[in-house]
Amino acid sequence: MATDFPPLKNDLILRAARGEETERAPVWVMRQAGRYLPEFRAVRAEHEFFEVCRTPELAMEVTLQPIRRYSGLVDASIIFSDILVIPQALGMEVQMNPGPHFPEPLNTPADIAKLREKVDVNKELGYVFEAITATRKGLQGEAPLFGFCGAPWTLFGYMVEGGGSKTYTKTKSWIFKYPEETKSLLLRIADVCADFLVGQARAGAQLLQVFDSNANELAPHNFIEFSLPTIQHISKTVRAKLAAENIPTPPLVLFAKGANWALPLLADEAGYDVLGIDWCIDPAEARKQVGDKVALQGNLDPNVLYGGKDAIERETKRMCEAFKGGKKPKGWICNLGHGITPGVDPDDLKWFFECVQKYSS
Ligand code: CP3
Repeated sequence: MATDFPPLKNDLILRAARGEETERAPVWVMRQAGRYLPEFRAVRAEHEFFEVCRTPELAMEVTLQPIRRYSGLVDASIIFSDILVIPQALGMEVQMNPGPHFPEPLNTPADIAKLREKVDVNKELGYVFEAITATRKGLQGEAPLFGFCGAPWTLFGYMVEGGGSKTYTKTKSWIFKYPEETKSLLLRIADVCADFLVGQARAGAQLLQVFDSNANELAPHNFIEFSLPTIQHISKTVRAKLAAENIPTPPLVLFAKGANWALPLLADEAGYDVLGIDWCIDPAEARKQVGDKVALQGNLDPNVLYGGKDAIERETKRMCEAFKGGKKPKGWICNLGHGITPGVDPDDLKWFFECVQKYSS
């Protein structure tokens, strides 16, 4: 395990992830290292997307960009990478032009034979571990560092569709036509996810987030059949493998976008410390549904950042009050309800962070 890191100067998010009361809510935003930042676009002008992911110095540089720009206002960093590095580790080609594109998607279960049978994450994804270890040092203890992976259901969708989709017709065809082959492939992906998260914890990641960004595509009973078991498999395997190495499991965060209906179930059964919520559920209602069993992360509509300073302040204040319920924040990590989008003015994000400081204490 990587050690010898600079001492952490800000553990607010770790305390909130454990469900504790905090003096104010910790805050970060999904996709905070991204195209809305001119300094990120400058790096991307010189380097391909996956080249940035695979070059630890570049991945560290873009991970640190929002931490530098918003120094003192942002309470976590997230390693620059992508959920699609797992399909790559399984042997699939993935291009980014500008969205993800798989030249050879999985069309039928026969195509599963093309995937790498055993994935050695140290060999295929060691560059992420190196980036994490370097970034822990580069952060100088300013904020904890997230590692992450995509959830099997979401990754499977990209692997089958060959990219993003509005309808997920091919993915749905698989679950209804080939349910058993789908489940076994999902579990294979889950094993790689678990090994990948374990490697990230060993390398120095201080929190781990699983992105099930396409959870909203599944009817509740289909989510329970196809996604939940794989999400559980990941949390159980990560905890067991790290315990066997005497490495404390970092807080585990699950963001199952659009599965707000599942909050009580996920709080009871998924095995995560923190559940991310999108903006389609009221924070007070979400808290009522999960009780004190888990911490919550979210949930401002990312498009509020296009509404101008007054709207950002009004909506952020409203969110803070709904999470706090008249008390100090407890077990709440402030975030957007999904990733920040490329057109946001970086100063408007700064204003959001300032409003969180003002209204969340
Ligand atoms: O700052 C961070 O949050 C860390 C880096 C990060 C990226 N992608 C960088 C990225 C993280 C955590 C992700 C996760 C990711 N990637 C998800 C889950 C989160 C979510 O938003 O739902 C998904 C579904 C992907 C797959 C993916 N990667 C898509 C659909 C796209 C293109 C869409 C778009 O935004 O244009 C990407 C590309 C990508 N990943 C970019 C970034 C900064 C933009 C591409 C670029 O730099 O040209």
